[in-house]
Amino acid sequence: MNNSYFDLIKQSYGFPKNGFNLKNDFLTFNDLPLQYFINKYKTPFKLIYLPKIGEQINKANGLFNNAIEKNSYSGKYHFCYCTKCNHYYHVVNETLKYNANLETSSSFDIDLILKLFEDNKIDKNRIIIHNGYKTSEYLFKIMKLHEIGFKNSIIVLDSTNELLRINKLPIKNKIKIGLRVAVDKEAQFAYHTSRLGIRSSEIIPFYNKHIKSNSDIELKMLHFFVDSGIKNSLYYWGEFQKALNIYIELKKQCTSLDSFNLGGGFPIKNHMGIKYDYKSIINKIIKNIKNSCVKENIEEPDIYTEFGKYTVGESSAIIFKVLEQKQQNDKEMWYIINNSLMNTIPDAWSIHEKFILLPINKWKNEYHRVNIGGISCDHFDYYNSEDFNQEILLPKYSNNDNEALYLGFFHTGAYQDAISGYGGIKHCLIPSPKYIIVNKDENGNLVDYLYKNEQSTNEVFDILGYK
Ligand SMILES: Cc1ncc(COP(=O)(O)O)c(C=O)c1O
Repeated sequence: MNNSYFDLIKQSYGFPKNGFNLKNDFLTFNDLPLQYFINKYKTPFKLIYLPKIGEQINKANGLFNNAIEKNSYSGKYHFCYCTKCNHYYHVVNETLKYNANLETSSSFDIDLILKLFEDNKIDKNRIIIHNGYKTSEYLFKIMKLHEIGFKNSIIVLDSTNELLRINKLPIKNKIKIGLRVAVDKEAQFAYHTSRLGIRSSEIIPFYNKHIKSNSDIELKMLHFFVDSGIKNSLYYWGEFQKALNIYIELKKQCTSLDSFNLGGGFPIKNHMGIKYDYKSIINKIIKNIKNSCVKENIEEPDIYTEFGKYTVGESSAIIFKVLEQKQQNDKEMWYIINNSLMNTIPDAWSIHEKFILLPINKWKNEYHRVNIGGISCDHFDYYNSEDFNQEILLPKYSNNDNEALYLGFFHTGAYQDAISGYGGIKHCLIPSPKYIIVNKDENGNLVDYLYKNEQSTNEVFDILGYK
């Protein structure tokens, strides 16, 4: 039996797979030759491949619309992109090319909407859903959108207090609102009910007391979001059905209610062996809503999703060079990479999120078990994997090799920059890496450019006050 890294991956998962392949013995990602980028830009770098975003949006729209047709469902599907997942202009702009609607989370997000409006990227018909805690600044700016004439701006109430605060503001045009149902968490959580949203038992009494006869507002949407993801599990379907039952009860009393929002939570491939049947889960969602509505003789709602990670996660990668291999005892070999994992993929350290990890070269070499460490001084600056029984297996190499070993963490496009703060002060002052954007021009040719250089000492000193 052959013991090369290539054989290991081929036998474990099948290869080529998931948009990964080899060309001239170097890894390609969505057909991008990573060797070219390594030679041109030098590691470490982050890379985003923008066309992947459109592919994901088209796929979600296609699957929902097919399920709608298959089930003769009378409501429509509305894809919304949740901006907090990745706020970069080039990302949000890409989603807009595919007619995504937007979901906001904070006051600055409304400035972002206003900027897109000013730049003619969106018009006043775009659906904008406002989630999150409504500070007075956030509410004030949402009201500004209403005054300008955004007719599909929907304020999803995170608490009953938010309505009381809205009622105190001058309201010119009727405001569309949604109610977020607070979901119960899975058994292993430290708390039982999410702080986000209104407790389920309060929703109908709250509607009757404060919304029904309030002529300034119109209840349009019921929102719920299971943040552990849309999964084919008893827990997910339990929360789904609870929210759907509330929708049905409310709909019987409220004619303006016509929208059911499932939030985010569509998964991405975070390891090579993942299997997730998007088609059947979407079909099950549509079928369940349809059946419940038919049974209760109510109109089928429009369905909204606010997919963040699904939209942008798989478009990005971060590429490192192995600086050194360190044998720390008979069994443990460390590969030290040329940046910090805590700083660049913080979810791996904080919530034990997994990303696809693959070597870029040396696939013909034998493999062995290694640990991967970053160059910060923190013990936790290392990466572990769920594959191969928690072991990381990577190609062997020799210190005498002419060419270094390069590693890539893939599908890192969601949340990592927002959580780490791209360009801010970093652990051990290790700079934020370069950022490369790859796109296709109008003829379908690849174009790449350096969006941001590696953070400089001066940029860091400026923040720290060393003038
Ligand atoms: C209200 C709301 N909608 C959508 C999302 C996006 O979730 P995901 O990135 O898992 O799709 C989030 C994420 O926290 C959220 O809070």
